[in-house]
Amino acid sequence: MADAVKPLILVADDDESHRLTINKLAATWGYEVHTAKNGEEASEKSRKNSYSVILMDIRMAVMDGITALHKIKSHDPSIPIIIMTAYSSVASAVEALKSGAYDYLTKPLDFDELKITLERASDHARLKAENLALKSQIRTQAGSRQIIGNSVAMRNLKATLSMVAPSEATVLITGESGTGKEMVARLIHLNSLRHDRPFIAVNCASINENLLESELFGHEKGAFTGAISKRNGIFMQADKGTIFLDEIAEMTPHMQAKLLRVIQEREVQRVGGEEYIKIDVRIIAATHQDLVKRVKENTFREDLFYRLNVVNMRVPSLREKTEDIPSLCQYFIARLSEKNRKNIIGISPDAIKALISYDWPGNVRELENMLERAVILSIGEYVTESELPPSISKKNDENILDKCLSLEDIEKKAIMVALDAAGWNKSEAARQLGINRKTLHKKLKSYGID
Ligand SMILES: Nc1ncnc2c1ncn2[C@@H]1O[C@H](COP(=O)(O)OP(=O)(O)OP(=O)(O)O)[C@@H](O)[C@H]1O
Ligand SMILES: [Mg+2]
Repeated sequence: MADAVKPLILVADDDESHRLTINKLAATWGYEVHTAKNGEEASEKSRKNSYSVILMDIRMAVMDGITALHKIKSHDPSIPIIIMTAYSSVASAVEALKSGAYDYLTKPLDFDELKITLERASDHARLKAENLALKSQIRTQAGSRQIIGNSVAMRNLKATLSMVAPSEATVLITGESGTGKEMVARLIHLNSLRHDRPFIAVNCASINENLLESELFGHEKGAFTGAISKRNGIFMQADKGTIFLDEIAEMTPHMQAKLLRVIQEREVQRVGGEEYIKIDVRIIAATHQDLVKRVKENTFREDLFYRLNVVNMRVPSLREKTEDIPSLCQYFIARLSEKNRKNIIGISPDAIKALISYDWPGNVRELENMLERAVILSIGEYVTESELPPSISKKNDENILDKCLSLEDIEKKAIMVALDAAGWNKSEAARQLGINRKTLHKKLKSYGID
């Protein structure tokens, strides 16, 4: 066998000589073998060890093979179990297959067949495990991307995150707009035991009170005009997962009272419904507002504030961690360069200097957007100061015709300048450029400007 690590298998049979024969044979084929005298022992052992394959006799005195199969499958549905059965009881083999057995072999065993079936089943188990590992890798990459930054503030945040994530604690994330609050919420979920259950984000500011209530708690058929059928809310859809309540400060007093009740009782009621439904969700809330001030002003319930603020995580503004700007730039440029099919490998020291002295009202999101624009505009291997907007750089009002640029580059710059001036209103930008909207669209598309 090519594998460096021997696959571990379990042989369950109440006939001792049978167990020994299979044990010896399988060992010569390169397996590490455990044995069990009956179904009960097999089920216990399968809880403590992670077997690639289980080979199990059907007829055993203490707990038969089918019962054991059900038991093992109920705590680990992915283990391939091969059933061994006498010729006379093929019907029970069929039943075993229906119950999720991987395959069956008839007794007396044909050893060649046993060898092939074992190989197939352990390959199957290995592929399945590899696939799972890959999926979890993709999940972490896609969901979390990465928290960039080694400033003291970010190191503290990461330390809190790794402590808080695996707990069940409700978390209140605060911080200015664009600092990464949603990113932190997703990371808490991904690093919690709930990671393979849903993470559902709701923006409490974006919908009105009635819609928000039905969105969160669901509704009965006919609860209001438009409620044509019964619907489960997000609290039910996110069962055993995490709900992210963004812009929590914008919740109306009525909704605040409802949410408080849900947190206290851990149950919800559909709009227009009678029945209370138990829920199991972790709540993470976020706001860029000063909630303590809101509590003092009586626009946010104090009791709800304490229920949400079990753990507070404050995401620092970009102004407070300018030392992270170079690494954030490297990270975003690499991603954005690939996304926009460019070959930009870095950023010039002058540009970094200009970025560090800027105020960043829109924080990391503003930096990301600015770099995307710069990456699109860049013609060399580095983003330079002249690709940064006027608010940041003094250099970029220099006459672009002073530089040796291709006509295409000049056109691209003219388009970006017009779009910036028009606040990205395309009709207005087209008017300024003296072309029609359709032509502008075509040009944007050909330059890959979004
Ligand atoms: N430290 C960081 N490392 C990598 N990416 C970051 C970091 N901080 C923020 N980002 C990115 O910045 C962008 C904005 O983050 P996010 O949407 O989480 O901010 P927010 O605080 O929820 O903003 P808002 O208050 O406007 O909703 C996202 O693309 C996020 O991935
Ligand atoms: Mg957000």
